[in-house]
Amino acid sequence: MTTKTIGVYGANGIVGRLMLKELARLPQAHEVKTFGREDDKTQKVDIAVLCTDDAVSAELLPIVSAQAKFVIDMSAKYRQTEGVPLVIPEVNAAAITKDTRLIASPNCTITGLTMALNALKKDYTLQEVFFSSYQAISGGGKKLLEDFANPSSNYRANCVPVIGSIQESGFTSEEIKGINEIRKILDMPAIKVRPHTVRVPVEVSHSLSATIKAKEDFDLQKVAALLAAHAGIICDGKIYTQKDIAGRDEVFCSRLRLDPEDKNILYMWVTLDNLLKGAALNGRQIAQYLLEHFLND
Ligand SMILES: NC(=O)c1ccc[n+]([C@@H]2O[C@H](COP(=O)([O-])OP(=O)(O)OC[C@H]3O[C@@H](n4cnc5c(N)ncnc54)[C@H](OP(=O)(O)O)[C@@H]3O)[C@@H](O)[C@H]2O)c1
Repeated sequence: MTTKTIGVYGANGIVGRLMLKELARLPQAHEVKTFGREDDKTQKVDIAVLCTDDAVSAELLPIVSAQAKFVIDMSAKYRQTEGVPLVIPEVNAAAITKDTRLIASPNCTITGLTMALNALKKDYTLQEVFFSSYQAISGGGKKLLEDFANPSSNYRANCVPVIGSIQESGFTSEEIKGINEIRKILDMPAIKVRPHTVRVPVEVSHSLSATIKAKEDFDLQKVAALLAAHAGIICDGKIYTQKDIAGRDEVFCSRLRLDPEDKNILYMWVTLDNLLKGAALNGRQIAQYLLEHFLND
């Protein structure tokens, strides 16, 4: 296999910096080129990874797609675009085909929950999921971490129930992403998703409390076994907090329990490192899949 080139755009951001570390873990021979704000972006690469916000990704896409065989976008800009696969490799890598040119990596908040739902969907007819999130400051990028470092920040010793912008419906843009992205990744357009997203004073790692309703009654032992058997999920009966798992690759599912009155309602606590499986690790896994399946000459 010839050495492939991977370009990281937004390489000085939080996700961009971690992406460089993640790419160093790739088993395939490769060379990495980094592009900051001022760098010339017209160099040829095999895979371009955009670690930039929605507006910058939109600005860069026409430039980099003229030079790259594949583009992986970490932003939300193209996640709902028809024909653009939105990919968690353990769930739906097969959505990437030989004709794919642009792949979107999902929102960090719903990545873990979507993996858990994917594990359950094999044996249960999932109908509805309510969730409340407890999201880290680093999920808001460099600017929010700088704000948090200020003793007068409104994010210190506080929980802020607005992430993104409030839409006409009263939901925030982050909540709308949750609904749409879970449906698209799982290819379950009819599943009801009832989100409430909250920023908490934790630097790294997100948690969600989720309440999941199926058509059938759940069997708790079977649920635990399905979760534990899913690639990338740890479910071993221990309780995991954000502090415990920062820096870890996996998604952690804990506090499984059934509703005492309705056995078709399952509760759980889902925790993941928003910068790793929620961002850079997922992006690296997509790059690895492309190298294995489409750039293996
Ligand atoms: N943080 C998370 O947990 C997370 C999780 C999943 C997805 N994402 C998504 O990943 C993307 C990056 O997030 P982040 O948290 O890393 O944000 P960030 O820390 O704000 O980093 C964004 C980077 O983009 C750079 N940039 C701006 N304009 C550019 C241009 N024209 N060319 C090249 N680089 C440019 C910035 O440069 P300067 O350094 O010069 O300002 C900055 O380094 C966003 O779309 C975000 O929604 C983030």
